[in-house]
Amino acid sequence: MTQQTSVLSKAPQYPVKHKKLLAWVKEIAELCQPDDIYWCDGSEEEYDRLCAEMVESGTLIPLNEEKRPRSFLARSNPADVARVEERTFICCENKDDAGPNNNWMQTAKAKSVLKDLFKKSMKGRTMYVVPFSMGPLGSHIAHIGVELTDSPYVAANMKIMTRMGQKVVDILGEDGEFVPCLHSVGHPLSPGEKDDPWPCHPFEKYICHFPETREIWSYGSGYGGNALLGKKCFALRIASNMAKEEGWLAEHMLILGLESPEGEKTYVAAAFPSACGKTNLAMIIPPESMKGWKVTTIGDDIAWIKPGKDGRLYAINPEAGYFGVAPGTSEKTNLNAMRTLEKNCIFTNVALTPDGDVWWEGMTDEPPAELTDWRGRKWTPDADRRASHANARFTVSASQCPSLDPAWDDPEGVPISAFIFGGRRASAIPLVFESFNWNFGVYMAATMGSETTAAAAGDVGDVRRDPMAMKPFCGYHMGDYFNHWLQMGHIVENAPQIFCVNWFRTDKDGKFIWPGFSENMRVLKWIFDRVHGRATAKQTNLGWMPNYEDIDWTGLDGFSEKQFNELMEIDAEIWKHELETHEELFEELKKRLPREMVLKRELLTLSFMR
Ligand code: GTP
Ligand code: SPV
Ligand code: MN
Repeated sequence: MTQQTSVLSKAPQYPVKHKKLLAWVKEIAELCQPDDIYWCDGSEEEYDRLCAEMVESGTLIPLNEEKRPRSFLARSNPADVARVEERTFICCENKDDAGPNNNWMQTAKAKSVLKDLFKKSMKGRTMYVVPFSMGPLGSHIAHIGVELTDSPYVAANMKIMTRMGQKVVDILGEDGEFVPCLHSVGHPLSPGEKDDPWPCHPFEKYICHFPETREIWSYGSGYGGNALLGKKCFALRIASNMAKEEGWLAEHMLILGLESPEGEKTYVAAAFPSACGKTNLAMIIPPESMKGWKVTTIGDDIAWIKPGKDGRLYAINPEAGYFGVAPGTSEKTNLNAMRTLEKNCIFTNVALTPDGDVWWEGMTDEPPAELTDWRGRKWTPDADRRASHANARFTVSASQCPSLDPAWDDPEGVPISAFIFGGRRASAIPLVFESFNWNFGVYMAATMGSETTAAAAGDVGDVRRDPMAMKPFCGYHMGDYFNHWLQMGHIVENAPQIFCVNWFRTDKDGKFIWPGFSENMRVLKWIFDRVHGRATAKQTNLGWMPNYEDIDWTGLDGFSEKQFNELMEIDAEIWKHELETHEELFEELKKRLPREMVLKRELLTLSFMR
């Protein structure tokens, strides 16, 4: 018997009754020819073993056991540090179904290119079978996936980020539905070849989605959303397709609970583009002066939202952990995150301190005198480069978050009372406003813009249209997506109210006007009061906006009414230009753009001409 046949006939370490799953694993093993196949059971022992093996191979560096128990640092290949949007594809028969918002490949063409790449791609490696549930096990809102990967780093991260292991296979039973997710770093090893600490393909990368058959094939990268396929690939690109077909929403949103001093509880979901403050807002601690207000965390990145029997929308966080941006996270900006990160973490591309702990830009006011940077080189504060990568991330279990909401794991989800949309905008967009109605809100969300960040490879700081913060994640034509959103508000009796926010407006010197972070609670309180029909507001061209006295300012010294007015200004000239850029977006989507969008734009244009 050759080695290959012995691997193929190897039985899982635990009972698997699902014939289709077994057949698929075998088929992929035949294609990729791994040296071994390992079915992840999801246990803590298994996680420790995977980490120990990665320490051995040089992929992980163990951190100081006293300062950061059971935690590790990974340094990626410098060419593999973020999502690669230009290598991300929606593969379907008809190019128009993918839309101008996606790169497209015809299904058969993509399969043939990928089959060639995946052929023998796992030689010299173990293929990990990673069964995972996106959402509480057995929840009617949840869905299951199985990732086959040749990266132990991915398997360990998936253990933290999802409900992973044997219990998921048990739920699948003999014929349960799952989304097959195939991943290879694209770095096969010849006999005796020494492995790289961060294997990946030097130039060939494909992140492919097949919405028509609900499959994912990702090749060449080991980083974040390119490789942890439950996240953006499944929970957003494939799930957005499922959601359109089945009448629900899969969104790039955090979910948080707001509790007033009187004990009233309201849940809101908020969409911000990558690295624009979702994790921060999801874990916000209200300022000292707003004592009695409490914020609890359901999720920090993705929301799956389905209509409930009572005419409201219910949301779950499909994830079980946070893959958050490290730089900028500090006890001042996000104390809950810092507490969450005290133990059991995987850090990727942060700096290492001489005593074996981690550091990143913004963690402390003063950098340590000496560090090892994210590429493993000596670093001192006078160095002309960053110590951590701008898209350095942490992976940590949600269970460690001090502000975790008691209902975060509730299979029924939580009822959503408001949707909030925000981008990174130096001008044009006021601190907060509420749209007049559902359709106006969908228009505002659909036309939102944001400055690009380091979360994706490419230029940082250009304003681009990022509808609903879903530009890189909507797995079908954006025009159809707008239409789906318009419909969703009308198929439920009690649609959430829609708000827009902007924490990032700058003054003439380019400085942020709004202090942000915990002070954002003042805006959340106004939103809470609006949802409860209590806060007053004034009517503007864009919607309802708070007057100065409608916001609770107690304890915020040094922020003047003049600054507030600057933040809230709606400049007619800037807005005329803004509406032209909306027109550019609409022009691109025109084949499938809902007529309602054009009408709303005309209304807005008229209001600015008066
Ligand atoms: P992804 O995980 O990439 O989807 O992003 P995210 O939206 O969760 O990003 P995260 O919360 O990690 O955003 C981090 C960045 O937003 C850092 O640069 C923060 O400094 C910045 N940020 C967060 N909240 C605020 C705020 O209220 N004001 C300002 N000015 N910056 C903020
Ligand atoms: C994002 O880029 O929006 C992320 C990180 O949340 S990743 O998982 O890499 O997509
Ligand atoms: Mn994200």
